[in-house]
Order: sequence, then structure tokens, then C-alpha cells
Amino acid sequence: MASPGNSWTPASWKNKQVFQQPYYIDRGKYEEILARIKSLPPLVFPGEVEHLKKKIGEAGKGRSFILQGGDCVERFIDCNEKTITNKIKIILQMSVILTYAARKPVVRIGRIAGQFSKPRSFPMEKINGIDIPVYRGDSINSYEPEMSARIPRPSRLLEGYYQATATINYIRAMIDGGFADLHQPYTWNLYEIEQTGKWKEYRVIVEQILDAIRFMESFGGVYSEKLGRIEFYTSHEGLHLGYEEAMTRKDNLSGNYYNLGAHMLWIGERTRAVDAAHVEYFRGISNPIGIKLGPAMTGDELIQLVTCLNPGNEEGRITLITRPGAENVRKVLPGLIKTIKQKKAAVTWSCDPMHGNTVLTKEGLKTRNFDEILKELNETYLVHKENSGCLGGVHFELTGDDVTECTGGAVNLKAGDLSRNYQTFCDPRLNYAQSMEMAFLIAKLIKE
Ligand code: PEP
Ligand code: CO
Repeated sequence: MASPGNSWTPASWKNKQVFQQPYYIDRGKYEEILARIKSLPPLVFPGEVEHLKKKIGEAGKGRSFILQGGDCVERFIDCNEKTITNKIKIILQMSVILTYAARKPVVRIGRIAGQFSKPRSFPMEKINGIDIPVYRGDSINSYEPEMSARIPRPSRLLEGYYQATATINYIRAMIDGGFADLHQPYTWNLYEIEQTGKWKEYRVIVEQILDAIRFMESFGGVYSEKLGRIEFYTSHEGLHLGYEEAMTRKDNLSGNYYNLGAHMLWIGERTRAVDAAHVEYFRGISNPIGIKLGPAMTGDELIQLVTCLNPGNEEGRITLITRPGAENVRKVLPGLIKTIKQKKAAVTWSCDPMHGNTVLTKEGLKTRNFDEILKELNETYLVHKENSGCLGGVHFELTGDDVTECTGGAVNLKAGDLSRNYQTFCDPRLNYAQSMEMAFLIAKLIKE
């Protein structure tokens, strides 16, 4: 990576305006916790990070496809065998479907093992007439709607570090131990979808994919990932800059700095101001980075961001994750694609069809409708195609559990069903059946 310049240090973000950070009452304790985190081992290795960057570069040229997904925010209570297994399983299963449809390798990146802090639209919320701080993620404060729970506690950052460590350790063990070999992830549980009127539409594609897998299996070893040596990468939003700074380490071999708390990090829509602290921090780390682009993004701003964050125009360094909302794709995306093309900026385009399509039910629950999500995805895919570009990946909030957070899909969840198993502490995720169905529909789209 091109050197970020002399003025950059892992702490130089502190000289800029910083958004979305919690306020700690006990500053001494906070500094003590960060020093402890800094002394603990990294979660990933620079070689892996560089490897992912190459893969993302390939996706930018249409040679592979990125599937990035996971919780909006991970909950500490979900750091257990069953939940982690289900999260990995759904991503593996979707990736199998996409591999067969796209006829290219799928790069799997979880929003996992560190996705613990959230940007929020408002700093406070009213509960029973009293203003209390909003929930900012389990590594910051606690979800219970009470003042004492919502006070940011520095010790939660250390707990987040250990939870991320336990999670990535288990993911690596599962993968090395053969969880991802040919048989395991194919025990698809499509019973719910099979009971619906939509099944006719999917049956053919499901059969085609299963046939292809059986065919490969019959050779007993042609499939290159048969030995369970699949690759799985971790990612989270680089939001809490004190924590991210503590996870930033210098690689003695290359002299480059890496954030070794995850393979990939992204900058959120609310913190991507080019002259502010998050962009300053991100410009100096060598990881592949994502940038979320909402409906207000302009070509000029985008060029400033890309120039600042990738001065050497390195492939795989930048993933532009667009999320303008289904209604805005055609208004916003063609201009951005043209600007990037004119500048000859090396970027990989991904589509987050979730964050621009969030609505509130009349009961006050955040939800997203399956058809709106699909619409944003379809439109984004088509706009890239019409502009001779390439959609290199997708980014979802999803879970392998049977939650009821998004409406629609073949299982046709209605707003009134959502309270049955509404688990998320932040944004609504596609559940197992909805995620599998989404994968079939993406498969259909990219096969055509
Ligand atoms: C998110 O990915 O959970 C998120 C907050 O996204 P965005 O920054 O795009 O709103
Ligand atoms: Co979210």
C-alpha cells in the first residue's frame, strides 16, 4: 500500500472531529482498558488480510463474487456454539448456491467476531418519559432500557475483544475441522419454503444446484474446497476509534500498519466525512476497507474519499457498498459509476440492499420488506450491467436462526408476526428461510 504520509499515526484521528463515540465518565479506566487491549494478541494475521485484499480485487473485475453478511450488531449472549454454527452455516449454504450460479469463487466475509458497536441517529431516547442514552452495541453499553444499563462502560470493550476472540477461534476450528466440507453445509432445511406457493419457482434451481453438487461429489475430490479448507473472513464497522487504534499493529516485515482485529473493516454512512476522524484513521491501515454509500453521496465527495483512502489506486483496497434504498438506485448509482470510471479508480462494487429500506411498523418495530430488499438488489445489478460495470458482491444483515424481523418472502411474514421472535438489538435481519430464498433469487439474477 502507498504510505499514508508522515502525518499519519494510529492516533492521528484524534486531531480531527470525531463522530459517534461514546462518552466515558471514568477516563482513567478507559485508558487502562485500551492499554490492556493493545497488549493482547491480534485476531488475524497480515498475510490473511493481504490475501483477502487480492480476492476483493478479483471480485472487482468480475472474477469472483463477495458474500458479506451477518448481524447488524452481535450480541454477547449469542457467543455460543449453536448461534455461531448457524451463522456460519447460512453463509456457507448461500455461498454454495452463489458459486454454482455465478460459476466463480465466492469470497465469504462475515459481519462477525467484532461487530459490537453501532452508530445511532440520536444520542438519547425517551423511555417512560425519561431521556436515557441510546444503546450503542454490546461493547459499549447494555441493551436494557434503563439509565444504569445505558452508561458506557470501558470494561465492555475488553469483553468485546474476548468475545471476538472466542468467536473467530471457533470459526477457525470448525473450518479446519471439516465443518465446511462437502456434506455438512448441504443439509439444507427448506421445509418452510417447500410448504409455500413459491416453491414451484425455486424447486428447479434447487434441484439443479443439488445435482451439480452430487455430480462433483461423485468424483470424490474434484471440488477444490472439499477438504474443509475453505476461506472465511471477518469484518466489522470500524466505529469505536479507541478500540480500533488499540487493534492497530505495525507489521515488521512490510512496515505497514494493519488493523488486526478483523480482516476487513468498513466506514459507515454516518462517519464517512472526508475531513473527519474515521477517514483519517482508515487512510493509514492497510486492510481492505468498505465504504457505505447512502442516497446523498455525490460524485465529487466519492472521488475525494477514494483519493484520500487509496492514493496508490491499489486493487481490492476499496469496496464501495451502495445502500441508497430501492427507490433511489437509479437516481444515484449511474452517476457514481460514471465518476469512478472517468477517474479510473480501482474499486469493487457491492450492494447492501438492507440499510436504505428500513421502515417502522405501527407497533414501533424496525423492519424491512423482502421485496424491497430484492428490488434494490435487482436494480443495482441492472444499473451496473447497463453501465458496463460489474457488481462484485452483496452485503446482508442476516442470521441462521428462525427470527421474525423482516417481513415478506415465501414464508410471507406479516408485520403482525414480527413480535413472535424479534431478537435483534438493532436492525432487522433476514432469517434462515428468507436468506436461502434470497440466495436462490440472486442465483437466478446472475445466471440470466
Ligand atoms: C450497518 O451496516 O449496520 C450500518 C449502520 O450501515 P450504514 O452505515 O450503511 O447505515
Ligand atoms: Co444495520
